[in-house]
Amino acid sequence: MSNSERERVKELKKELNAVLLAHYYQESEIQDIADFVGDSLALAQKAAKTDADVIVFSGVHFMAETAKILNPDKPVLLPDLAAGCSLADDCPADKFREFVQAHPDHTVVTYVNCSAEVKALSDILCTSSNAVKVIESIPKDKPIIFAPDQHLGKYLIKKTGRDMLLWNGSCMVHETFSEKKLIQLKVRYPEAKIVAHPECPENILELADHVGSTSSLIQYVSQSSDKQFVVVTESGILHKMQNENPDKEFIPAPPESGCACNECPYMKLNTMEKLIQCMENQSPQVHVASEIIERALVPLNRMLSIN
Ligand code: 13P
Ligand code: SF4
Repeated sequence: MSNSERERVKELKKELNAVLLAHYYQESEIQDIADFVGDSLALAQKAAKTDADVIVFSGVHFMAETAKILNPDKPVLLPDLAAGCSLADDCPADKFREFVQAHPDHTVVTYVNCSAEVKALSDILCTSSNAVKVIESIPKDKPIIFAPDQHLGKYLIKKTGRDMLLWNGSCMVHETFSEKKLIQLKVRYPEAKIVAHPECPENILELADHVGSTSSLIQYVSQSSDKQFVVVTESGILHKMQNENPDKEFIPAPPESGCACNECPYMKLNTMEKLIQCMENQSPQVHVASEIIERALVPLNRMLSIN
């Protein structure tokens, strides 16, 4: 990023009295200029507390929608409205409504990686940071639906011992990692610890020394006395890990093919250029219908109160 781009973002933030929130999977330049970089839970918590007039959200659409649900009267800018999420796409609201209606006795726990409409159909939301706590808050005799990520769902069944009815969505990035190549890396770097996001399939998680949300993975590698880590999640996270731990080595886990599939194509739609343009034009903005906001706010606030 050029100095002039950095200066322009600073100027625009001041002019708009805006806060710039960014996810760990955003490109490094954007992380470096953001007011706050975090995982999806921390970003929602920041959005809930901000006194800025405008929220500029550098992340994906469902995250910006969460910020809008919490701040219905403020403009929430997203550099590229096409920055979606394969998990959210795997759970269309009409199909999910039918599924929920077919199981009226179930408590519906939904991972925030879903549309505002799907949030509005849920009893309580969770992120990968607080999912265990959220599930443990539900009485033991209550059956649970968990959506949309089947891999996170299976991981939570193991962790909590609760039998849950799972929606079968998945993340295209976390499904891309190769078990065979990960085992080869383990042999090549026997000292390295493997850290993985719980959106990865079970066979990958079984090889991991630590499983957790993006912030949990960063915390683990920073607190560990080990010096080498294989990182099994979106590669944007390496920027923060390396910055915080210049003396440690981070090896991105290899995808199945020789592609760059461990980069989230949606996250990477947000570029510096689009960030500046959206602040200059105060567009594109994320819009959510007021009746959806009203209904989605209930499960969202339940989640936030658990933290
Ligand atoms: P975190 O909540 O761990 O930041 O994860 C968000 C996400 O989209 C993972 O793919
Ligand atoms: Fe969605 Fe996966 Fe991208 Fe996260 S990494 S935003 S779950 S597609």
